Amino acid sequence: MGEASYQRADSPPVQLLEARATTSLDQNYQPVRTPLDPSGAIPVLSTASIVLKFDRFLLPRSVGGAALADFVCLSGDLAAEVRTPADCVNPIPLAATYNPVQREVILRQVEGMQGLVPGSRYALTVLGPVDEDAPSGVRAFDGAPLRDNVRIEFTVAATNPPQATPEFRMPGGDFYCQRDLECVMEKCDDDPVCTMCVRGAAYVLFSCAGCHIDGNASAGLNLNVGAPLFNNVAPLLETAIGRAAHQTQVGEHAHLAEQTPERFGRAMPIIDPNNPGNSYLLYKIIIGENAIDPSLTGEAAEQLREEIERLRAAFVMGVPMPPPEWGIPQFRFFPEKPDDPTLTQYVDGMDILSAWILAGAVPRDCSMPAP
Ligand code: HEC
Repeated sequence: MGEASYQRADSPPVQLLEARATTSLDQNYQPVRTPLDPSGAIPVLSTASIVLKFDRFLLPRSVGGAALADFVCLSGDLAAEVRTPADCVNPIPLAATYNPVQREVILRQVEGMQGLVPGSRYALTVLGPVDEDAPSGVRAFDGAPLRDNVRIEFTVAATNPPQATPEFRMPGGDFYCQRDLECVMEKCDDDPVCTMCVRGAAYVLFSCAGCHIDGNASAGLNLNVGAPLFNNVAPLLETAIGRAAHQTQVGEHAHLAEQTPERFGRAMPIIDPNNPGNSYLLYKIIIGENAIDPSLTGEAAEQLREEIERLRAAFVMGVPMPPPEWGIPQFRFFPEKPDDPTLTQYVDGMDILSAWILAGAVPRDCSMPAP
């Protein structure tokens, strides 16, 4: 049975809002991505990754199910019309990861395989499913397909800045503990461990432990990461990582966390290592105030509000997290004002909680030096 049979009558098709690729590096030699430019005036670096931003929350396996992305065609053969993955001539292989907070898919070139050639021109085609039952092709979480295939041409720069390196993978790091460097310089002298300055995923989860703590674990979820030392990993391992969310346990296979349930959302893990798009904890945050992007106004803000209502109607139950009556948000996924001190750390355009889940969701004792 295909996903489309679950599609609700009020479920609109998916639209691609933007495709950005690396066109330069910032002062820390990190990629700066700008919208793909068919005129060729802003050429893309040959080391680039490409980010696709969609208007709807996606079905993660429709954009990340295969090792190599089969819902896009990146090819130097500009004459071919690409309607299905089979039409893609001599493709540049790409690996995809989905970030539900931003509704973005990041496409990376693959080490050891054919990559972008300096000075050449390419066409990127983003593909919807060929029919109701097609396993590949961009779909919303409720099965609604991409409205139309989208084709964008761009040119690759003849030369790169000397510091450019291929963006084969997300930059590495200690995403769970991650110290804020300014904080370390101000408050910790030369203590490299300095748990006072932990700002990684552990810090975001710590802001939830007021309710999700031993003895009062709301909905059986214990997020007591052991502040101020951030040295307690057992509760996460026992109640969150790979554990099905109670609120999603409906239907006959309800007791086991499912990586690929027949219906998206059912028996979803609270935290699914390597798969932020299948992690219920993120959706509980996404539907709440800490994930509101204040830069969206007017129609865009209204559309996102409606989309969040669809998430809640489909599978995100109960109240948003942290609940509004909990008071001032202690972290935000999008800044409210410039230099917002509550803004979550970011890794290559992704909030650190999602980045930690994508990197495998391994908790650790932050009072020990990084391995
Ligand atoms: C003020 C208390 C409070 C705070 C703070 C709080 N929660 Fe909750 N949480 C609850 C309660 C009560 C429930 C069960 C009822 C509901 O979801 O509406 C719950 C349920 C959940 C669930 C569903 C668990 C399941 O098995 O279905 C998740 C996931 C969750 N919270 C994550 C978080 C995260 C992440 C944070 C911090 C960003 C957070 N909570 C902060 C009280 C809280």
